[in-house]
Amino acid sequence: MALKKMKCVKVEKKGGIAWVWLNRPEKRNAMSPQLHFEMDETLKFLETDPATRVVVIAGAGGYFSAGQDLKEFFRANENNPAGRKAAAEAANRWRWERLYKYDKPTIAMVEGYCVGGAFMQLCATDFAVAADDTVFSLSEVNWGILPGALVSKVVSDTIMPRKALYYCCLGEAFDGVEAEKIGFVNFAVPKEELVNKTIELAQKLMAKSPAVLRATKHAVRQVRTMDFDQSYDYLAAKGQAIKVGDAQDSYNTGLSQFLDKKAYKPTFEPFALKKGAKKAAKKAAKKKATKKQAPAKKKAAKKTARRK
Ligand code: COA
Repeated sequence: MALKKMKCVKVEKKGGIAWVWLNRPEKRNAMSPQLHFEMDETLKFLETDPATRVVVIAGAGGYFSAGQDLKEFFRANENNPAGRKAAAEAANRWRWERLYKYDKPTIAMVEGYCVGGAFMQLCATDFAVAADDTVFSLSEVNWGILPGALVSKVVSDTIMPRKALYYCCLGEAFDGVEAEKIGFVNFAVPKEELVNKTIELAQKLMAKSPAVLRATKHAVRQVRTMDFDQSYDYLAAKGQAIKVGDAQDSYNTGLSQFLDKKAYKPTFEPFALKKGAKKAAKKAAKKKATKKQAPAKKKAAKKTARRK
């Protein structure tokens, strides 16, 4: 299955990374209802796409996103409750439910403007890299609403409370360097290094065991709202669960490469992934199936021979 051609979103895949571009640069990538529907479809597709190992969310033309489209998302839907609800559902689903729980690692690559509603996808992605001259602004207070959908919630969950209050209540713009300092992004880098820094991070993620990485990111997110007893229980169960159906057999492979082969130091790097682990698993499954069929085939052949 392939993605259909889209108007407001562009996808490029290279070396395991799917670059998902919000694609309305003439509107500074303000998010219209159509853009939300297309993003929702795109993320759903990529989550199970075998060629995609890391998803990068970015904005075409050098703009991450100027937030919700004030004309098409807000004003045009004032008297259209059905349209408003459909757009809001898609908007929230891709910017939060999908991204926050995504099965693959996600990175926001931020430059130009990151305003208002764009903070949802900024906070939902696992990691964020920004150009140091990016203009960030929780502008809602400046045009007459509070930071809605989940913006107030995810901003105050991500950064320090006084900073959250300050930027939400003042609507004052700040740059990438401040965004890194207060925890909105992992790195702020000069604009010319942005793409390479993002690729470097994606490649580090792709070197980890996919099953262990997936479980780890889900676990770190889930335990935030659990108490200690629940966390012990959840983490023990999740730890066991990784061992089932892990193509890398990560636990045994990692231990063996360190303890038996003395091939690496886990303090500094991941164990070497088995190349073509998926292919090997498929081959093994096929061999098993053929073996099962073989006696039946032999029996049938004997029968035919007897009849002759
Ligand atoms: N909603 C709708 N349209 C938007 C938009 C938004 N959030 N942000 C930008 N645009 C449109 C502008 O209306 C303009 O459209 P036009 O060419 O039809 O006039 C076009 O995008 C370019 O914007 P412009 O303001 O001319 O570009 P700029 O580079 O000088 O400024 C911003 C960019 C982002 C600083 C400015 O457009 C802005 O403040 N936008 C509002 C952002 C906002 O408050 N978003 C919060 C939503 S929750």
